[in-house]
Amino acid sequence: MSFAPYPQFRARRMRRDDFSRRMQRESVLTTNDLMQGLFVCEGDGVRDAINGMPGMFRTSIDLLLQDAQTCVALGIPAIALFPSIPAAQKLPGGDEAWNAEGLIPRAIKALKASFPQLGVMTDVALDPYTSHGQDGLLTDAGYVLNDETIEALVKQALAQARAGSDMVGPSDMMDGRIGRIRAALDQEGFIHTRIVAYSAKYASAFYGPYREAVGSAAGLGKANKLQYYLDPTNSDEALREAEADIAEGADMLMVKPGLPYLDVLQRMKEKFRRPTAVYQVSGEYAMIKAAAEKGWLDEEKAMMESLTAFKRAGADCIVTYFAMDAARVLKR
Ligand code: PBG
Repeated sequence: MSFAPYPQFRARRMRRDDFSRRMQRESVLTTNDLMQGLFVCEGDGVRDAINGMPGMFRTSIDLLLQDAQTCVALGIPAIALFPSIPAAQKLPGGDEAWNAEGLIPRAIKALKASFPQLGVMTDVALDPYTSHGQDGLLTDAGYVLNDETIEALVKQALAQARAGSDMVGPSDMMDGRIGRIRAALDQEGFIHTRIVAYSAKYASAFYGPYREAVGSAAGLGKANKLQYYLDPTNSDEALREAEADIAEGADMLMVKPGLPYLDVLQRMKEKFRRPTAVYQVSGEYAMIKAAAEKGWLDEEKAMMESLTAFKRAGADCIVTYFAMDAARVLKR
């Protein structure tokens, strides 16, 4: 292909005016792309600010319903729910995770009763429920057991599906969990319950504020999740994980965190052409919020630019704590 360089080609011609900038725009963010992350806790009328996530709260179910209503009004398709349970309920085995009367099942039931059209995704992993803060069952030597953990995750996913969860999101990175969860869901007739597989979840420093929010930081202490989350240096490994998840029945793939892993997102979408989500995690939210509070960044512009970057890289769905804020901007 011959390319006539400058002065025949002037890239700035198309960038000169608003109309021609709009005409050559490649990626468009819409409210349909957004999933709002929300934290739920016990109690009544509780709205407890989360350290490190300005503007985010742990809310009791009654107030969670208000936020859900706002999401519906703004046209946000779905929310992702995360539990902050009392420390006293946390056990080494994370048993509260599959309590049919637990916080998350009760929240799901309340949400689906009030807003049946709002999609609900629930997290499948034991970390908010274990006293040690790991996503699975731990040996004395500190190893997170794979197959035993899957059995617990299956119980957790079933408890969520029975309560009415629309999407279960295994975020634990155990091998083989997608297939086992799919089989268990199907066996109970939950053929419509979608599995959003956190296929490429990295052992990242950007989860800090979330661990405070769900109270897993204290249990975790100086321990890490390197044995089961992906190594930040790798992206071929992420594709292998995605391939396995697809084979096991994942309906949607996910990359997490977001901005530091845009290359992984792009590769995953290009290679598999599957519905692909990205998770803009707590630390990414915190960075924008903190810089904006200091007056160092324009919060709204940085937020919209980061979300649009996910679209450019190929994301179909963006899980973000900014969903409501971004939807308000998009509505203007
Ligand atoms: C763990 C889980 C994590 C997040 C959601 N579920 C990571 C972790 O604590 O290791 C992080 C979300 C965020 O940082 O916003 N299953």
